[in-house]
Amino acid sequence: MGERLIVVGAQWGDEGKGKIVDLLAEKFDVVVRYQGGDNAGHTVVVGSTQTVFNLLPSAMFHPGKKCILGNGMVINPEVLNREIERVGNCLDRLVISSQAHLIMPWHLALEQARTENGQGHIGTTGRGIGLAYESKAARGGLRAGDLLEDGFEVKMRQGLENANRELVSREVEPLDRNLLPGFLAEAKKLAPFVQDTALLINELIDSGRSVLFEGAQGAMLDIDHGTYPYVTSSSTNAGGACTGTGVAPTLITGTLAVVKAYTTRVGGGPFPTEPPPGDLIGDYLQSRGREIGARTGRKRRCGWLDIPVLRRSAMLNRPEALAITKLDVLDELPEIKICVGYTLRGSEIKTAPASAHLLAVCRPVYQTIGGWLANTSGITDFDKLPYQAQKYIFLVEELCGRPVKIVSTGPDRNETIIRKDMRVFEWMDQRPVESQLALPIANG
Ligand code: GDP
Ligand code: IMO
Ligand code: MG
Repeated sequence: MGERLIVVGAQWGDEGKGKIVDLLAEKFDVVVRYQGGDNAGHTVVVGSTQTVFNLLPSAMFHPGKKCILGNGMVINPEVLNREIERVGNCLDRLVISSQAHLIMPWHLALEQARTENGQGHIGTTGRGIGLAYESKAARGGLRAGDLLEDGFEVKMRQGLENANRELVSREVEPLDRNLLPGFLAEAKKLAPFVQDTALLINELIDSGRSVLFEGAQGAMLDIDHGTYPYVTSSSTNAGGACTGTGVAPTLITGTLAVVKAYTTRVGGGPFPTEPPPGDLIGDYLQSRGREIGARTGRKRRCGWLDIPVLRRSAMLNRPEALAITKLDVLDELPEIKICVGYTLRGSEIKTAPASAHLLAVCRPVYQTIGGWLANTSGITDFDKLPYQAQKYIFLVEELCGRPVKIVSTGPDRNETIIRKDMRVFEWMDQRPVESQLALPIANG
């Protein structure tokens, strides 16, 4: 039977999941997105071409791989149609879950109306994500499968009228009914791709096919386990891959967590390793790492690597292995800091607390190591990394209690170290062996 591997982001998103999924996709038959919507921006660089995927799985450049939008997703039909046109050549491999919810025009309008600038203190991507999940939880949402049934138009008109009542009560211009036919035409284009994907994926698994589950956002943006309320509205962690596809936990064979070599976050919310005013390291990482939101064009907030955050996400996801990205961004730094713990109200703790209020008052405890001051861009052999760069990787392994099996040294698919000595692709050959390293999650 093929492997069923989940790829998750270990921080606040933008870890480089797109690059890693594209890299691994070659080894899998099926790639499925399990949550989120077009708040995601997953970048894939192959040669001189850079593509940002918002809704389609980041495996679209691998001919023959089935690409599925799972039931846990929220889909804006217009955005998906434009993405399909942009990417091209993928319709024969695309399947959309009949249970995935649709982002309706009023979800965007309401998000805009409820927040000052369309983003509010959370700093959302303004794509109607939270509102679509709100409709889902309130059992008033429209699903892709509804496109195949009678009554879609009636439900759509009712939805618009309900939303307009709120818009008017907020003294905002209501939505014009005349936009509905255009929306419907866009949505109907998706109808041929809509299927019962839980059944399909399980049948594919039973017939021996391997499945790669592509997470969006990151562990700390999870609706339950992230820095609530500064989170997105879906289950980003490995557990979400099961509910977001209909694949049972017993069928999952492994999880890989993608970790950026430093930390970034877009939007509001606590960020313990964000440098204080006057410390220019954040600006340096932002410009050297080209940390600009792939979806919104916003500058990402940047700081040192935060091990307590990684310990929490390792606890939530229990990854067999880590993939570290953007190591090359640290090349020119004479000194590199790693946050190895926090002080919280006079006590030292090792794992990030669940509460955003507590996280906001945690003070980072840093360990400093000498930088490598050498170019690592494009290195593909671990032994060719400067000693200090290797040491950085070993330190992360020790502090997180998880082995690093992939190191990314540039945006391109080929700029990657795969540590074969550590049986990187053992998932593809046999069931994974639990790491020899213990997971140091305990606080105190
Ligand atoms: P995702 O949302 O997790 O898929 O990540 P994004 O695509 O939003 O952001 C990651 C950015 O880093 C993209 O611009 C990638 O092309 C780039 N990237 C990925 N890996 C590396 C790397 O190892 N080095 C450098 N310099 N850039 C990388
Ligand atoms: P990928 O998949 C980084 C953040 C937003 C905001 C919060 C809620 O590319 O890693 P939302 O629009 O989801 O309601 O916004 O979540 N956010 C992301 N940050 N990467 C992402 O996706 C994100 N998707 C949402 O900035 O703080
Ligand atoms: Mg991104």
